[in-house]
Amino acid sequence: MRIIKPVADFPANSTIRTGFVPTMGALHEGHISLIKRSRSENDRTVVSIFVNPTQFGPNEDLSKYPRPFERDCEMASEAGADIVFAPSVEDVYKENSSKIQVPHVTELYEGAHRPGHFDGVATIVAKLFNIVTPNTAYFGEKDLQQCAVVTKLVEDLNFRIKIIFCDTIRENDGLAKSSRNAYLNEHDRLLAPCLHQALIQAKDDLLNGKKSSLTLKEQIEFLKSNSFNVDYFDLVDRSTMHPIRELNDNASLIVAAKLGTTRLIDNVRVIG
Ligand code: PAJ
Repeated sequence: MRIIKPVADFPANSTIRTGFVPTMGALHEGHISLIKRSRSENDRTVVSIFVNPTQFGPNEDLSKYPRPFERDCEMASEAGADIVFAPSVEDVYKENSSKIQVPHVTELYEGAHRPGHFDGVATIVAKLFNIVTPNTAYFGEKDLQQCAVVTKLVEDLNFRIKIIFCDTIRENDGLAKSSRNAYLNEHDRLLAPCLHQALIQAKDDLLNGKKSSLTLKEQIEFLKSNSFNVDYFDLVDRSTMHPIRELNDNASLIVAAKLGTTRLIDNVRVIG
């Protein structure tokens, strides 16, 4: 496996069928599943490791974001990556650089709770797409609104890249794998699976015909009674990331909640 750091060193215009997995490092089984999927569907897999400062808010965890670079490279290599691309912040962002804003799908939920976050995500994803020029890029459904943003970005700016969304990888108790799980103390780690339980219960209730307003209210109460501070718990159309009240084929339940100081997000599809 090759490690490339300077942007200028990334080989241009490759004719090799390339799969791309953008990450911020601190790799876990969620990331690994994306790398393996890419490996199985392409001749070459590029993994980027870049903790993107523009997608962190002023009160977020940019400085304490874990950066175990050597371990990440070992894990990426073991999973079948051919290139790890790990540029520096100075190399990626020059002064007064252009930004991309994706409207509408970013209005609510993570977009509302983390102002500027999706501008940062859309901008870095577009930049990485232009540097790596992959045929296919792989994203996790764990970050559902990010998936909607990337879909719009690719459509709106005519990137000729196929986007594949992959299932969320979970711990045995249902907690979605995340680099942020490491911040949970022992007590909160035991409570954390309630988030997925609430989603599954809400999904069952909706499929059994319970009204969505009542279902959502009950699960928010359940989470509150288990020490969660709920930012949102909603039924949405995952292509628009706006609320719906009746089920459709695009219906997903989404949640974001804090346990102590750790903010967790998760989602499930209601149908399919
Ligand atoms: P990061 O949080 O490192 O995630 C990289 C990719 O791994 C994303 O597509 C994310 O959805 C996926 N992922 C995370 N946890 C997962 C899980 N439990 N199961 C399956 N996939 C999972 O998302 C980002 O980085 C950044 O915003 C990025 C797209 C790299 C832009 O900076």
